[in-house]
Amino acid sequence: MSRIHLLSPRLANQIAAGEVVERPASVVKELLENSLDAGADTVDIDIEQGGIKRVRIRDNGCGIEKDDLPLAISRHATSKILALEDLEAVGTLGFRGEALASVASVSRLSLSSNTQREGAGWLARCEGRDMKVGIEPTAHPQGTSVEVRDLFFNTPARRKFLRTEKTEYSRIDDVVKKLALSHFDVAFNLRHNNKPSHRFPAATTQLEQERRVAAVCGPAFMEQARFFNTEVGDLRLWGWLGAPTFSRSQADLQFFFVNGRSIRDKVVSHAVRQAYQDVLYHGRHPAYVLYLELPATDVDVNVHPTKHEVRFRESRTVHGFLYGSLSRIVAEMGPGREDGEQLSEPLADEPVAGSVVGGIGGITRGQKSHAFPYQHPVAFPVRDSGAVREQMAVYQIPGQDGGAMAAGNNSLHSVEGIGGAEQAEIPPLGYALSQLRGIFILAENREGLVLVDMHAAHERITYEKMKTAYEGVGVAAQPLLVPEALAVSEKEADCGEAHLALFETLGITLQRAGLESLMVRAVPALLRGGDVEPLIRDVLADLLTHGTTRRIEEHINDILSTMACHGSVRAGRQLTLTEMNALLREMEATERSGQCNHGRPTWTQLSMTELDALFMRGR
Ligand SMILES: Nc1ncnc2c1ncn2[C@@H]1O[C@H](COP(=O)(O)OP(=O)(O)O)[C@@H](O)[C@H]1O
Ligand SMILES: [Mg+2]
Repeated sequence: MSRIHLLSPRLANQIAAGEVVERPASVVKELLENSLDAGADTVDIDIEQGGIKRVRIRDNGCGIEKDDLPLAISRHATSKILALEDLEAVGTLGFRGEALASVASVSRLSLSSNTQREGAGWLARCEGRDMKVGIEPTAHPQGTSVEVRDLFFNTPARRKFLRTEKTEYSRIDDVVKKLALSHFDVAFNLRHNNKPSHRFPAATTQLEQERRVAAVCGPAFMEQARFFNTEVGDLRLWGWLGAPTFSRSQADLQFFFVNGRSIRDKVVSHAVRQAYQDVLYHGRHPAYVLYLELPATDVDVNVHPTKHEVRFRESRTVHGFLYGSLSRIVAEMGPGREDGEQLSEPLADEPVAGSVVGGIGGITRGQKSHAFPYQHPVAFPVRDSGAVREQMAVYQIPGQDGGAMAAGNNSLHSVEGIGGAEQAEIPPLGYALSQLRGIFILAENREGLVLVDMHAAHERITYEKMKTAYEGVGVAAQPLLVPEALAVSEKEADCGEAHLALFETLGITLQRAGLESLMVRAVPALLRGGDVEPLIRDVLADLLTHGTTRRIEEHINDILSTMACHGSVRAGRQLTLTEMNALLREMEATERSGQCNHGRPTWTQLSMTELDALFMRGR
């Protein structure tokens, strides 16, 4: 080995760049974050050859003082934090002071800026092993432009890892979309090879925001997604949740932001998956755009240089809050449920949920939606919000309260000439007209034709009833004739011992039998005869990582679901109109009734507009 020596600044930065600058998209991410931190409200992004040849980002933010330009490009230099305490409550996207230095060490970087205090602007460029910065005057409006050319020109090994221009560009596209979703108030213009690729104008109203979400996630997502906003203490969760029937084969439409930062997190994905459990077709992934807001001091963002991960101080509280809020909304995504229900008081300046029904500039909402823009009279008291009241007016007769929604009303109504007083009495799924081949129920509602898969719908209703009945009596325990010893780790044994009471409520009687052993004395009666051991292991694993578990309930639900499937009306049975209407009313009153137990849709809507289009009427 040779003697010890200090690395040159460029080499030190190149090593650091290994963590932060993986590909052109990471350059774009770092530069955009700087522009957002600088308070820009317009950002222009110009890309050439997938960003490998050139990335240029121009913003109209606060700019950088001439004397600070050399510092901006040096490592460990930042204007965003001063002391460790600042790091504990950091409100900016950047804080490590190493992005520009890293990028500059592996590319040809130039930085132009103007704070509008000093002349026309200054241009900084850095060169050589010591990364000396040269400065010259340049014409630049208020704000900053960073140009990065020939990425990895001096690090051939890294360059080899770059993919095709198209692939690199699509990653840039993803980065821009993510930031566009997290900063609605900023306009983003993205160009590739001198051709406009995306334009996201600033979006302040909920309508404009939904337009942006539709541009990123596709209009089909927005058509069925449901806006919500829920707050508990200083935790707030809001955003757009896709219906279980809108599930995807890939987890590619999942956006989660924590305090404006896009993150990947185990606690979060576990909670979301659990919320959709029971309504999602096997192997499918839900779609969502979600925003979690919590005090900056409750979340550590300094976990990884790329800042893709966070650590929650109270991860169990966060998990519980996410699971609780989301599973409730998923449960409510059935017919007869209000679209975009406000779960808590809206913030004063918050666009009110549910204010958007019908067409949004080419995006038509609510047509194939499995959430109706109706007020549910019993379950959801109407919040005193202007938009909701406006919406109510459309569906309500003056002087009559929302209770007229006829839930549980089995009588036959004539739906002819819908309008006036009749209007408010049409239940969301309407009234049965007939049965098709003993499989589908045809019904007429305000929008047009409703088609219901009889068996699927009944299965869900039976299942929910069985669950409720089961929850009523609790999980009955069945003592084992011969207690079973379970070999576990010491940590698991400790965990089991610490949660004896919890296991008891789940129908499992445990006992510590040794340093690394637990004794099972009783198991849930419904699971008797099955192999309970792996289940207990999974429960222990859940408790160790998340502090809570729903394994037993889920397992029991699986069994109930199978029982419900066998106990439900089979296809081919002839129903009377009264029976059909009773089923429709039950669907409206049942949680999660938009999907059967296997996640398949139970009903669909063909609106008059769609029917007209089928027959080319009114053209
Ligand atoms: N677009 C920009 N507008 C204004 N200031 C900027 C911009 N980009 C970088 N800076 C300044 O340069 C500093 C260093 O940037 P960077 O290396 O990304 O580190 P960090 O963002 O972690 O502070 C920032 O703290 C900021 O003061
Ligand atoms: Mg930065």
